[in-house]
Amino acid sequence: MSQFISTEKRTHYCGQVSVSDDGREVILFGWAQRRRDHGGVIFVDLRDREGIVQIVFNPEAGESVHGEAHKIRNEYVLAVKGKVRRRPEGMDNPNLATGQVEVVISKLEILNESKTPPFSFDEEDISENVRLKYRYLDLRRPAVQKNLILRSKLAIATRQYFNDNGFIEVETPFLGKSTPEGARDYLVPSRISKGAFYALPQSPQIFKQLLMVSGFDRYFQIAKCFRDEDLRADRQPEFTQIDVEMSFITEEDIMQMMEGLMKAIFKACLNRDLPLPFPRLKYADAINRYGKDNPDIRFGMEIVDLTPIVKNSGFKLFAEVAAAGGVVKAIKADSAAALSRKDLDGLADVVAVYGAKGLAWAKVNAADWTSPIFKFLKPEEAAAIGHTMNAREGDVLFFVADMPKVVHDALGNLRLHLGKRLNLIDPDALAFTWITEFPLMEYSETEKRYVSTHHPFTSPFLEDIPLMTTDPGKVRARAYDLVLNGSEIGGGSIRIHRQDIQARVFSALGLSEEDAKGKFGFLLDALEYGAPPHGGLAFGLDRLTMIMTRAESIRDVIAFPKTQKAACLMSDAPSRVSIEQLMELSLKIV
Ligand code: AMO
Ligand code: AMP
Repeated sequence: MSQFISTEKRTHYCGQVSVSDDGREVILFGWAQRRRDHGGVIFVDLRDREGIVQIVFNPEAGESVHGEAHKIRNEYVLAVKGKVRRRPEGMDNPNLATGQVEVVISKLEILNESKTPPFSFDEEDISENVRLKYRYLDLRRPAVQKNLILRSKLAIATRQYFNDNGFIEVETPFLGKSTPEGARDYLVPSRISKGAFYALPQSPQIFKQLLMVSGFDRYFQIAKCFRDEDLRADRQPEFTQIDVEMSFITEEDIMQMMEGLMKAIFKACLNRDLPLPFPRLKYADAINRYGKDNPDIRFGMEIVDLTPIVKNSGFKLFAEVAAAGGVVKAIKADSAAALSRKDLDGLADVVAVYGAKGLAWAKVNAADWTSPIFKFLKPEEAAAIGHTMNAREGDVLFFVADMPKVVHDALGNLRLHLGKRLNLIDPDALAFTWITEFPLMEYSETEKRYVSTHHPFTSPFLEDIPLMTTDPGKVRARAYDLVLNGSEIGGGSIRIHRQDIQARVFSALGLSEEDAKGKFGFLLDALEYGAPPHGGLAFGLDRLTMIMTRAESIRDVIAFPKTQKAACLMSDAPSRVSIEQLMELSLKIV
């Protein structure tokens, strides 16, 4: 074996070799992605984290190089030395960043062999289970590496921004007491205190508020959070937040600071210039216009309320729903003539998932509508609907009649479905919007009491405090979410910093003083020692990265993610533990 690596240093990453290196001697290290033998000449695609370059072994290079090159198989690790040259006329590969050049090799060392990988690196559709089992190989693929490299840039830009703005990064514990963010806790048994458990943090919420009481004034942290909840395409059991808290501020200050952060991040990572400020939408308007509190405003198709028009409808069902306190609302798809009758009938399945008992539709013609309900409607009624919805020939209207929540869920999701299906979404658009004036609490049918919409430390609007006893559902929270392209990327609030108001909120939530003391007494105590007015926000770093990389799944932006069943296919976590370990913890599996 020669002493290749110990004596010589890499001159270039594979992906960085370019025409300007023509004639230069280079030393490269990388993995063999593919070897092709062309009657004597051997070509290998050599890959490292920056890309791929074609290397060439000519028979003239001699047995120690050309002979050795015959042994190269997929994913062998190579060290090579050679001369860069322009590719011969007509041989450029436009699909490769280095496609204008190749490297003619004069020295080769095979640093390590590889078993045949379970998938080929230029394949498109590799089963996700196989990818996750061999994640260390999957992570060699440029598509996944690109995501993690962007994620790293995002984290660095975040730290840079907060440092420039006088924030202090503080770490908070993983082994803690349960914080009430609304999901289930991951518990860790204590060996020393038998029968007692730590909870992994659902967020650093209480700690960051305590740091404000301590006078840190501006805090941030890139923090791991743990939530044992049902997983979806944009949820992981452990995920990362960009967590922020500030003192002596209003919601305006926080929103401005966070807009600045978004601007800095998008510039650093994607070289995109975001126009500020972001638009704002009150929660109630978001629900009324888009059916959701995380509206995708990259396209229109807003929901229109037809209840006043149809309360005496010729179509009995509409009139009955309106009379029973329900609503009748509709959306309009422009020029959707391409949707066949069968397509339209099929859309009832899309809304059924959200509890809608039916979906009425109408294709607008020059003089009338093609619609299952047209015959029931009074002529002036159909005209009023058409007028209100600004309907033109070729448009299709969709109606749902039900209680408001069902109607908003059904039409909000139908709108998204149609937006995708009818290609109304510009893939390059970045549509940010703040959602403000959330309700402080919502009535929970399962718990038979009011529960916090965000968390119980969120401040109510001061002028709404009298409603707390009379009409708790009407109290507005000083909370805000930031939504990007229909995804909630962050949320936060101004906190309660006075013990008396905190006590009133607990009581409205049906929490006794004792309960509250038991759960987060240390925060309540702290509020009595000169807590400054404060507030903050947390971004979902994984979700933000997902949008920036256009990843379909949150797993594509996390180095070692969990499956939908919260398992790691590579390490086999979670796994059983030994009896000895259980005994030490005084635990018994039942
Ligand atoms: P919240 O619970 O809204 O607020 O969380 C903040 C952001 O974190 C992201 N997020 C998730 N990302 C991936 N997987 C999950 N399971 C997951 N859950 C949440 C979302 C969300 O907007 N302490 C408060 C913040 C505050 O008030 O300052 C909090 O945790 O993008
Ligand atoms: P029917 O008379 O029951 O055949 O209903 C006529 C049309 O109204 C059909 O297209 C149904 O899909 C639709 N429909 C039924 N229930 C609802 C509802 N709750 N909201 C909107 N449309 C409905």
